[in-house]
Amino acid sequence: MTRRMMVAGNWKMNGSAAAVDRFAEEISTAVDGLAAQLLICPPAVYIERLGRQVSGVAVAVGAQNVAAEREPGAFTGETSGEMVVDAGATYAIVGHSERRALYGETDQVVATKANAAAAAGLVPIICVGETLEQREAGQAEAVLAAQLDALFDHADQDTLSIAVIAYEPIWAIGTGHSATPDQAQEIHAFIRSHIRDRNATMAESVQLLYGGSVKPDNAAALFAGADVDGALVGGASLKADSFLDIARAAG
Ligand code: 13P
Repeated sequence: MTRRMMVAGNWKMNGSAAAVDRFAEEISTAVDGLAAQLLICPPAVYIERLGRQVSGVAVAVGAQNVAAEREPGAFTGETSGEMVVDAGATYAIVGHSERRALYGETDQVVATKANAAAAAGLVPIICVGETLEQREAGQAEAVLAAQLDALFDHADQDTLSIAVIAYEPIWAIGTGHSATPDQAQEIHAFIRSHIRDRNATMAESVQLLYGGSVKPDNAAALFAGADVDGALVGGASLKADSFLDIARAAG
């Protein structure tokens, strides 16, 4: 099966109204003819602003997180999947390692959030990845298998059938030290084969994104991996020119 490439930007807690406007203007004239699916996930308050400015442009807008709760209620500070859909989002990142490490999101919470996102009509981009310590101890595959198994145990079939999975080794995030193309391909192949044991159809169709220090100068080599279907880009997605260079490397 040929899977479409995707290049997604995760702005994390960066940006401003002026930065959104500049990015939208620079990207709008430059994406024609690019084959990859493009997505930007700005901070939630900018979803609507960015979406308005790229409407009619082949760039989707997504959220970086959604509440685990689906119904409105007394959840101060939370933003539901339905709310970000209202703002124009079509995707939501869930289970980013920063959410897991800094905000205590467990595998079960991540699966619940993925279900909530999918129920609201969003495509969940579910993040998995190992720490440096785990990799050095030879546990990378076991850690990823456990994260994926938890997903299969707690996420709905409807959620899994549309989900995108992002492999983001924690040691590569924001460090400038990307996984090598071989390391990324090896783990992506492992993830796909682990998924195949649980759901053969999903294994073939699911887009597996690599994330962690993806830059214009390493993107093409990473994308050459047969099981690498694109990237989830942090720092290099903040500027339109570097994001576009990565998008061009994806075809
Ligand atoms: P960097 O591309 O800045 O390493 O961030 C990766 C990431 O965490 C994307 O979600």
